[in-house]
Amino acid sequence: MDERAAVTPVNLLEYEAAARAVVPQGLFEFIAGGAEDEVSLRENRAAFGRWRLLPRVMRGVTEPATATTVLGQPVSLPVLVSPMGLHRLAHADGEYATAAAAKAVGTIFCLSCAASCAVEQVAARAGGWWFQIYLMDDRGLTLDLVRRAEAAGAAAISLTVDVPVRGRREADERNRFALPPGTTMPNLLSRVGDADPADYFALAKWDAAITWADLDWLVSSTRLPVVVKGILAPEDARLAVEHGAKAIQVSNHGGRQLDSAVGSLDALPAVVEAVDGMAEVVLDGGVRRGTDVLKALALGARAVLIGRPVLYGLATAGEAGVARVFEMLRQELVIDMMLCGLEDLGAITPSLVVPALR
Ligand code: FNR
Repeated sequence: MDERAAVTPVNLLEYEAAARAVVPQGLFEFIAGGAEDEVSLRENRAAFGRWRLLPRVMRGVTEPATATTVLGQPVSLPVLVSPMGLHRLAHADGEYATAAAAKAVGTIFCLSCAASCAVEQVAARAGGWWFQIYLMDDRGLTLDLVRRAEAAGAAAISLTVDVPVRGRREADERNRFALPPGTTMPNLLSRVGDADPADYFALAKWDAAITWADLDWLVSSTRLPVVVKGILAPEDARLAVEHGAKAIQVSNHGGRQLDSAVGSLDALPAVVEAVDGMAEVVLDGGVRRGTDVLKALALGARAVLIGRPVLYGLATAGEAGVARVFEMLRQELVIDMMLCGLEDLGAITPSLVVPALR
């Protein structure tokens, strides 16, 4: 049960209001907000509205199967946890709860290097998990993190490439957002040195000089498959594959980085075409409905990832809240698959979607 929630959500979109009711305003705005005018944040949702489904009928589908694989790893539904820092902002159990929920649900948890719990301890509670890094100016420290993730059992390394500088999130400036006492980024502490652990802005500063040669370096430094997160341009998707990426995560960072960047789903078709089957393509940004999942898969995504709803579920009811978010989305997906005549995800083809008429 959602013990802390004032409203009982019936879908993922309503989780935002439920979380707002239980999280202090400054924290809520840190999680919910986007950069500048939040155009890209809205575009992520709007992009799904630009497509309609063309269902097939009379196919005798009674129990649609939602399972698939991502980078060879089985998942019970094509929805993964996108990396986000600082889950303890949402709930004291932080990443421990999210990892355990993802394991119970049967999906992959992508753990951020900016997590509020240590890699090894999260790994002990996780099922399949990936580890997301930013490239730090000190490559030695970056490599230390990769080695820790490998030793702890990560199945992939995700390199986020859309944060050469932090986007301007004006709500955080207005609220003078700082980490509450006791919330830190333990995996990055060796890097922080004397910096104030409450100074989020000092901590979250990555190497702006990142180039494709750094992807070569990372790919040659780890035995794990590398996912490149934060790709929108088809040319970049192609370059990422040429430099060794095994998966591309199409993303505008939930509208938190470059404002006016295209919505993720709008960017997806050209990326899929450019990648041409040489890597898996996944997408995050604004996925809230079972029908969103179907649209993304019909446009060529292998799977999708969700961000904020995970933190909202966590805020309202810890591990159970995160599991509930996934089960809600799974239930929707099952109904939507039945309504589309899809017995499994392999039955999804491009003809499932048509552009919405204006
Ligand atoms: C993020 N995101 C993110 N991405 C990443 O690669 N590393 C990180 O540490 C974080 N941290 C983070 C914190 C918070 C509070 C949010 C909301 C997001 C971006 C995240 O992985 C993802 O791209 C978007 O959140 C997906 O969009 P939705 O589902 O939130 O619309």
